[in-house]
Amino acid sequence: MPALEGHVIHTTNLTKKYGKNTALNNVNIEVGNSGITAILGENGAGKTTFIHACLGLIKATHGQISMFGLPPGKLTSRRRTGVMLQDADLPDLLTPREHITLFASYYPAPLSLDDVLDMCKLTTLADKKYGKLSGGQKRRVQFALAIIGNPDLVFLDEPTTGLDTDTRRMLWDVVRKLAEDGRTVILTTHYLEEADALADRIIVMNAGEIIADAPTPEIRALAGGAIIKCVTNLSVKAIHKLPDVKSVRKTGRFVEISTQNQASTLQGLLAADINASELVVKKPSLEEAFDQIIHNQEQA
Ligand SMILES: Nc1ncnc2c1ncn2[C@@H]1O[C@H](COP(=O)(O)OP(=O)(O)OP(=O)(O)O)[C@@H](O)[C@H]1O
Ligand SMILES: [Mg+2]
Repeated sequence: MPALEGHVIHTTNLTKKYGKNTALNNVNIEVGNSGITAILGENGAGKTTFIHACLGLIKATHGQISMFGLPPGKLTSRRRTGVMLQDADLPDLLTPREHITLFASYYPAPLSLDDVLDMCKLTTLADKKYGKLSGGQKRRVQFALAIIGNPDLVFLDEPTTGLDTDTRRMLWDVVRKLAEDGRTVILTTHYLEEADALADRIIVMNAGEIIADAPTPEIRALAGGAIIKCVTNLSVKAIHKLPDVKSVRKTGRFVEISTQNQASTLQGLLAADINASELVVKKPSLEEAFDQIIHNQEQA
């Protein structure tokens, strides 16, 4: 199947079944040759299966996949692709320097080892045995392996799970830099603030199907309305009865009121409790939009 003009990934009716379980159900995805796409979805939604199918690690039950215009797993596309798998396993006895050097040898024009060690904050760990590294340090080595080849396309499957805040920021910076350099990044994450901070486009999967696929601002806008945060003596039940309230959540001494119409809810709130204080009105986050997309799907 030829690649669509400017597309690095193009799947048509991609389906993967494990016995009676359908992990991917007629998935149609086109990914262009730049930008960061985040694939979101609850556990078991099919995110990792999609990545494995694109890499040729598993065979589709039916449907087609084009990677750089070729079927998955071909050497030419592998040489243009970097991968950080969710369950990566590397030999314990090699050092980060040895692992990264080995991976660099698979690619035609790799980055410099020292640059990648530096970017991934591995310089001081370069000569330690991989088996003696901490979980987060191992993830950093796996990330380094995904980028050492200077690939056009990078898959990152839950790259920041278990990373400390500084390391997560380091990884975000490198991912942004990759995209600025015109690379294509596909990442999965359960941290919605990560998708919000990084991705140009969001794909939401549920039970093997794509249930939303749009630029990040459009996905965020799906939640609509606003969130009013305040301290009030009103009960949750009373707040629910205010005009246009969608949901109410207690967070410590604050309540967070999700509303369709901030003006009418605020008016009602202040009429009912003139002492409501520490008022903040904010736009819904990607998290609210995601909850709504999944919730709508479950009701359908
Ligand atoms: N090797 C396998 N054999 C049988 N079933 C599998 C296999 N791999 C995945 N599955 C099933 O396919 C479905 C999708 O799994 P997948 O790993 O793609 O989910 P995911 O979206 O990556 O989830 P998570 O967020 O937990 O990583 C699940 O129902 C899972 O049980
Ligand atoms: Mg997964």
